[in-house]
Amino acid sequence: MGVRRIGTDGGLRKDVWEGVVAAIEDALPVYDKINQLISFGRAEEARQYAINQMGPADGLVVLDSGVGPGNNSRIILSRNSAKVLVGLDESAVQLENTKRNLKAQNHEFFHLVRGSFEFLPFRGEVFDWIITSYALRDTVNLSQTLGEYSRVSKSTGRFTVVDIGKPDNYVKRTGSLLYVRFVMPLIARLAMRNKIKPNPWRMIWPTYVHLPTNRQLARILGQWFGPLEVKEFLTGGVIILSGRKRV
Ligand SMILES: C[S@@+](CC[C@H](N)C(=O)[O-])C[C@H]1O[C@@H](n2cnc3c(N)ncnc32)[C@H](O)[C@@H]1O
Repeated sequence: MGVRRIGTDGGLRKDVWEGVVAAIEDALPVYDKINQLISFGRAEEARQYAINQMGPADGLVVLDSGVGPGNNSRIILSRNSAKVLVGLDESAVQLENTKRNLKAQNHEFFHLVRGSFEFLPFRGEVFDWIITSYALRDTVNLSQTLGEYSRVSKSTGRFTVVDIGKPDNYVKRTGSLLYVRFVMPLIARLAMRNKIKPNPWRMIWPTYVHLPTNRQLARILGQWFGPLEVKEFLTGGVIILSGRKRV
């Protein structure tokens, strides 16, 4: 029987979560390069698509949740349009790194905040737009996290998730599971020439294995945000879900 990696609330078990966050920190020197490789370029394309879909963030208060190395924030800042942009992450290592990465785009309206998805350190109804990319599946409690995103969204607020997808179709799903379990870590290992040990990309599997299928995820998200716009890349291997807060 396999090891149980799921917590009781549709999220990762706490010890698995710690391993995942540590792996993402370890991956930092080659994070973008390898992610572009294993996603056939779609990881960045999906971020760009989601941000374009939102349109100009002029005058908006925006949260980039699970900011990591700052990929979404960099795009948003390059357009110089948000009123306030907050990058949130639980990892102090990621926040330090993002600060360095985005130093050149030193905008006074960009703030980095340490905090967790499950207990967002913000008062209610402050954000016009929340984007979270390749991070929602790392939560230790999915419904609590979505409840938090809804709480801190304005009544007109919009929420966008970009993440690895799990196709509903059995054949495609089997292909995706095999890819994430075996092929993805192998490509990563070869590309980084075994430099980082243990291989951080092996830790995508525990986050992927418990992920709901794309349709199930849309149904869960739809309880808080909707109607949802759904866009899939790589036949459902990457997904964007976006909708307004339900009031
Ligand atoms: C895979 S990275 C994604 C980074 C970036 N958004 C991107 O598009 O590449 C996930 C980020 O979420 C953070 N994270 C994971 N679980 C978290 C939680 N429960 N609360 C806050 N941050 C979390 C990790 O530290 C990491 O920086």
